[in-house]
Amino acid sequence: MRTEKLFSGKTLAILSGGGDTPAINSSIECVRNRASMLGFKVYGIQRGWKGLLGNGDVVDLTNIPYNGIYGGTALLSSRTNPFPGKKNTEDRSEQILRNIERYKIDVLVTIGGDDTNGAAKKLYEQYGIPVIGFPKTIDNDLRTHTLHHYGGQQNETVLCPGFPSGALAIKKLTAKLHTTNESHQRIMVLEVMGRDAGWLTGSAIFGGAQVALIPEVEMTRERKDFFFEFVKEKYMRSPKRSLIIAVSEGVRWWNEEKQTLDMVYASPDLDEYGHPRFGGISGVIASEISKRTGIEARGQISGYIPRAGKCSEYDRRLTSTLADKVVDLLLRADYGKMPVMKNIVPYSELEEYHTSAIEMGNIGNFPLPEDYYNANEFYFTDQYIDFLSNILGAPYRMEFDYEFPLVIPH
Ligand code: F6P
Repeated sequence: MRTEKLFSGKTLAILSGGGDTPAINSSIECVRNRASMLGFKVYGIQRGWKGLLGNGDVVDLTNIPYNGIYGGTALLSSRTNPFPGKKNTEDRSEQILRNIERYKIDVLVTIGGDDTNGAAKKLYEQYGIPVIGFPKTIDNDLRTHTLHHYGGQQNETVLCPGFPSGALAIKKLTAKLHTTNESHQRIMVLEVMGRDAGWLTGSAIFGGAQVALIPEVEMTRERKDFFFEFVKEKYMRSPKRSLIIAVSEGVRWWNEEKQTLDMVYASPDLDEYGHPRFGGISGVIASEISKRTGIEARGQISGYIPRAGKCSEYDRRLTSTLADKVVDLLLRADYGKMPVMKNIVPYSELEEYHTSAIEMGNIGNFPLPEDYYNANEFYFTDQYIDFLSNILGAPYRMEFDYEFPLVIPH
């Protein structure tokens, strides 16, 4: 007996764009599996929007084994922007439309942050292409309209696949750094990705970072003076004379020489969406701390560690849950939407029941909310700790408490 599936004869194509995360392959696999079950032929577009330019670069994922636990993206990624941008002013959307027709793509699922999904939104709004956006970023700064229930109130928060794995990696890395730092009784300045948002930097406090700086709060000359005093006191009061300060790569830091608020770039070259590449603020801050406090300090760039390695358990279940919502959207032919979590919930409650779909027109960047960071304490609030505990469980720190009796020679 031959049973015709609902979407037999239709093709769904998936692409991933922007910086990779450990959860992209999982998102691809979860969407692919569900779409196949509905009868779709499933294509993968290689290197984000680039794979729909020129002659196209498209592969068939329909019956090929796919490893969703392996991090990164087997479909490869790029920061190609088909619409005119700061770097590339050419409008290449015609090429995208032509390839969608050539490859007979009926539905497009775009896994990305604000840039990739922003382009998808334009394709949907300007040309009516059936698009479903799928959130992705370790920076966690893509507006998902998720709610956080805390202290009897509901506040807007964000939850993007990729962030849970990235946050776990930063938590673990920070927890490890204590041993070397304590051995030398230093201050360590740990630099964390996140561009203009401090979400990921916050995960370092789950590994025992005692101080944090985020891009949302400028480090003006006055705040810097206060900061150096604060750091010195915090260090002197720490039982082992050891302090870890987590700093976002995009922290705005007062430059005394130039008399400007600066960011430190690894390269000032802009990508096609107009972003420079950050890197090096930890070294600048560490050397100023040494000068101003007399305490030895070191910078440590965590770099691509939060993007590297396998998908975390939370991300695995999150991507699977959001893929369930994709099925709902497909069945109702409800395009121009992005599946998101309605509420922030612990691992055990990641279910379709807690999802919703937002209009692609309502996405955009969303920095760390003010209620999540206490600028006077240079630390995250209990509200943010509550948010993160849903994703990361309990804070972790390797501990070895000792107090050896001093030997007095006779
Ligand atoms: O995708 C976001 C991100 O990971 C940022 O946190 C970081 O600034 C940037 O990508 C680095 O990008 P690239 O892979 O181009 O070095």
